[in-house]
Amino acid sequence: MSAPEPAPSAGARPPIRVALLGCGTVGTEVVRLLGAQAPDLAARVGAPLELVGVAVRDLDAPRDPVVDRALLTADAEGLVERADVVVEVMGGLEPARGLLLRALRGGAAVVTANKALLAEDGPTLYAAADAAGTDLYFEAAVAGAIPIVRPVRESLVGDRVHRVLGIVNGTTNYVLDRMATEGLGLDEAVAAAQELGYAEADPTADVEGYDAAAKAAILASLAFHTRVSLADVDRTGITGLTADDVAWAARTGHALKLLAVAERAVDPSGGPDGIGVRVHPALVPLDHPLAGVRGAFNAVFVEAEAAGELMFYGRGAGGAPTASAVLGDVVSVARHRVQGGRGPVESSYADLPVLPAEAARTRAQVRLLVADRPGVLAQVASALADHGVSIEAVQQTAAPAAGEPDPAHPDEPSATLVLTTHTTTEGALRATVRVLADLPAVRRVVSVLSVLRVEGA
Ligand code: HSE
Repeated sequence: MSAPEPAPSAGARPPIRVALLGCGTVGTEVVRLLGAQAPDLAARVGAPLELVGVAVRDLDAPRDPVVDRALLTADAEGLVERADVVVEVMGGLEPARGLLLRALRGGAAVVTANKALLAEDGPTLYAAADAAGTDLYFEAAVAGAIPIVRPVRESLVGDRVHRVLGIVNGTTNYVLDRMATEGLGLDEAVAAAQELGYAEADPTADVEGYDAAAKAAILASLAFHTRVSLADVDRTGITGLTADDVAWAARTGHALKLLAVAERAVDPSGGPDGIGVRVHPALVPLDHPLAGVRGAFNAVFVEAEAAGELMFYGRGAGGAPTASAVLGDVVSVARHRVQGGRGPVESSYADLPVLPAEAARTRAQVRLLVADRPGVLAQVASALADHGVSIEAVQQTAAPAAGEPDPAHPDEPSATLVLTTHTTTEGALRATVRVLADLPAVRRVVSVLSVLRVEGA
């Protein structure tokens, strides 16, 4: 019997040509890792990875020396034509969409970190990848370094996911954490996040929840095998929150977090069951693992039928962490070039309806500034009862909290009333709050915040 032939070494195979679109913080780290880990990456792929070009808008901008200027080009279209794998870290809808479609139609595999594009037009990209029989990977689009796309898309594909809860925006988590630990106001905490480079000069995408909503749409699509776009996500950011909201959260045993929530939901109007996808501030009980996610970290908590509860935690942004997720995808798609096969295609067979926010099951904490006189609590309780909303707990303090003076009523004492409801629907809650706001004894609805429902509690 003859000895088996030695496996061809990685170097014996033609290189996999990698094109990079965008060379900001993440792109620079991708270049660094491709160079620093070249021998290991080649061994893992079974062929060397060759960076054939880096498309940038400004050829003359200062760059980290790790980026070989000879690779820079302003001709992104030409670059994607000569690549096997196109890595997109430029962000934005255009020209990224056109370039990725061009790459996919030409048969290249695509690795992208572009959550906005995927949440806006993922199905078009998937269709182009399908038509060409190539790969579309996007681990870096959700929660940076944290492996969450692959676990939901592949590891949990045999299970039935009930709910995905994510702290998927590090900037807002950092802002809320500074508010909680140092008593900062929102503007001060956002300014601190900007100084550290977490928040952009225009922080709208983070603080208004658009970034988290794009990630929620991507996770919901994968978890529930249903197309979900950014427009399907009911979104409330953190800009309405005050230092007092954060202080009251702590006082009632919660941490205030911006959550992305995607869950199976029953249509209260009798229609087919569907899913709800929301981004909103929520009071997370301090003993829930998500309450302990501090600073700019991210975490995604998954509840599935057979697997039970899972939590994925780590760095959700930053050059090196995001580049780690990008490189993982590059190795996966490059392996397919060497070994044959493809990664997962779009799975939207379940086609569940995305239900309106009013259908969502919710618990809430409603904080009211009320006149402190006989019968007020009864009126408030009756408004809730009229809408079928059950009260779980009531707390009253004799005077408005600091920062909530009531100059309009100097002669009559005020009280702060904090009502926590049992689980109800968002629709019933909103209707109740409208009635409460109109009660003469209610001087102000100070805040209405969701309380995370802990299953089985
Ligand atoms: N701006 C995002 C965050 C990172 O703060 O988490 C990119 O999605």
